[in-house]
Amino acid sequence: MVETVLVVGATGNIGVSAVKGALNSGRKVLAVVRSQASADKLVKQIGSSEGITFTEASVLSDTGVKGVVDLVRAGKLPAFQHVYACVGGEYSITPLLQITIPQLRSNLNASFEANFFAYQATVGYLLEQNNPNSTWTMCTGSQGDVATHPVPAFAQGALFSFATAAARENESTNIRFNEVYLMFRVEVDAEAAAHGVSGASEFAAVYEGILANPEIRSGRVKVETPADFKDLKWAKKF
Ligand SMILES: NC(=O)c1ccc[n+]([C@@H]2O[C@H](COP(=O)([O-])OP(=O)(O)OC[C@H]3O[C@@H](n4cnc5c(N)ncnc54)[C@H](OP(=O)(O)O)[C@@H]3O)[C@@H](O)[C@H]2O)c1
Repeated sequence: MVETVLVVGATGNIGVSAVKGALNSGRKVLAVVRSQASADKLVKQIGSSEGITFTEASVLSDTGVKGVVDLVRAGKLPAFQHVYACVGGEYSITPLLQITIPQLRSNLNASFEANFFAYQATVGYLLEQNNPNSTWTMCTGSQGDVATHPVPAFAQGALFSFATAAARENESTNIRFNEVYLMFRVEVDAEAAAHGVSGASEFAAVYEGILANPEIRSGRVKVETPADFKDLKWAKKF
């Protein structure tokens, strides 16, 4: 059986790399997007829609990904065995005293809540399927520790704790839960080249490595330099 990865936040820098990693590993993708325009953007980044099923949902709401899972249960969308959640907000440097309440709330909603909602919506389904190879992956960043960019940093702090709790709660389940802790900037290939940062295509190797190695479980995979893309450094989260 060809496995499928549900990618939430599939059209972003990390999402494109998750889609590439899934396809490179011989799996199919169920991509959650907010609009046809976002789906088109993803196809442009990947170069083809082969192997990708698109579904539209509002991932900022606690019912968005739940609705996707309902369609999967009803046989209207492909069954999935893996999840990669990487919804994100702005990468800005707004100083603390200038952060507005709407900016704060919309960023915590996109960068933290959306990923947590994706977890709550999908884990019950994966547990029921009881596939021994299931995985659940998310991406955090060292911004959560260095905080030169306060708004994105706040969300990382919350994601760190969420990842540790999920790693703990799934330690003995059929789901290998892992956090990728990325310590530098990755962007979709076209923008990466222009900005002199790493590209999503190269970063895809990290997800391929996680999918391929059943020993990586309840862990933090630390990506400190591009040399770590193919030689994964990881440790248990607790
Ligand atoms: N990129 C990095 O170098 C890096 C490093 C460390 C950690 N991370 C973490 O990884 C996560 C993703 O980062 P990223 O760089 O991939 O972010 P990104 O490129 O901005 O992508 C964000 C994703 O979330 C979706 N999204 C954002 N706001 C939305 C909204 N209001 N409604 C629906 N969808 C929305 C975007 O959809 P659309 O395409 O439709 O806008 C896109 O799929 C973040 O938590 C970030 O902190 C990233």
